[in-house]
Amino acid sequence: MTPQQATRDDRAPVTVLGLGPMGRALAGAFLTNGHRTTVWNRTASKADALVAKSAIRAATAAEAVAASDLVIVCVLDQDAVRTIVEQAAESLKGRTLVNLTTGTPEQARAMATWAAERGVDYLDGAIVTPAIGTPAARLFYSGPEDLYEAHRSTLASLGGTHTHLGTDAARAAAYDVSLLDLFWTAATGYLHALALADAQGIAAKDLTVDAQGIVGLVRDLIPVLADQVESRRYPGDGSNLVSAAAGIDHIIDATKASGLDAGVLSAARVAVLRAIEAGHGDDSFARVVEMFGSAQETVSMPSS
Ligand SMILES: NC(=O)c1ccc[n+]([C@@H]2O[C@H](COP(=O)([O-])OP(=O)(O)OC[C@H]3O[C@@H](n4cnc5c(N)ncnc54)[C@H](OP(=O)(O)O)[C@@H]3O)[C@@H](O)[C@H]2O)c1
Repeated sequence: MTPQQATRDDRAPVTVLGLGPMGRALAGAFLTNGHRTTVWNRTASKADALVAKSAIRAATAAEAVAASDLVIVCVLDQDAVRTIVEQAAESLKGRTLVNLTTGTPEQARAMATWAAERGVDYLDGAIVTPAIGTPAARLFYSGPEDLYEAHRSTLASLGGTHTHLGTDAARAAAYDVSLLDLFWTAATGYLHALALADAQGIAAKDLTVDAQGIVGLVRDLIPVLADQVESRRYPGDGSNLVSAAAGIDHIIDATKASGLDAGVLSAARVAVLRAIEAGHGDDSFARVVEMFGSAQETVSMPSS
């Protein structure tokens, strides 16, 4: 054990439930910062490396909860959270549960209600940038502000920046799902691009630098699009939706000619065509933001 890892009396004990990659990183950061850290995972062997670094392995979730006033849960999904906390509900009473598992705003509110009914103090949270233990980590929280303030210095041991987004338990998840919408669509777009490149005989690594350049273009566009969306003004003088539709059609045509599924970009094309049909062809691409309101209606897919 290094001096840094030695438990320091001024550091609050913490329990971490769930030892996937994130739970292991969370527990590791608490240990590194001198917190007595108790861990539990459904598959007990995943605690081995942490125990070697002085974490305490609990035999059950309830035993783990009983070891600390602050309990972090970070597992696959909210169903798994519910399964775990139901097992430990009695022990959780009077303690603080911080749920860093990804979920929907509705699930966050439901967990807050579950906790309130059982006398459990509850903060919902989200790991936005998972570089736990480094300055690049980014975490959101929502729920009672005094609760957040009470545990703020302990949570700071996870590194990076932490933001309390308000007392509504759903707020952290609301930010998180919005940002993850961007993440998953962007990552899927890149992987689809690699499939198209592969079909054209281009190696993934040969596109890396220019793909990063394209992402840089999107990055630079973000504040511009945000301004247009907030002001509901979509000047299309630089490039308009009719031009965007033509550009998208080329990619869909090339995708189909390569024998690949064009579903990812076809969904974007539908939104662009809706905007054009509504008379907004001269507007910028940002107008598309208004075209998702009827997403639950059946969408006909005009052929490109
Ligand atoms: N990984 C990342 O980069 C990242 C980034 C941001 C946010 N997150 C979020 O952090 C959370 C955890 O992610 P992760 O990557 O660490 O792990 P994960 O692969 O999403 O989930 C694995 C963990 O969930 C547990 N689990 C699954 N079903 C369970 C059940 N029914 N009962 C009890 N435990 C159950 C697993 O236990 P066993 O070991 O026993 O299977 C393991 O501890 C997720 O919500 C994820 O979206 C992850």
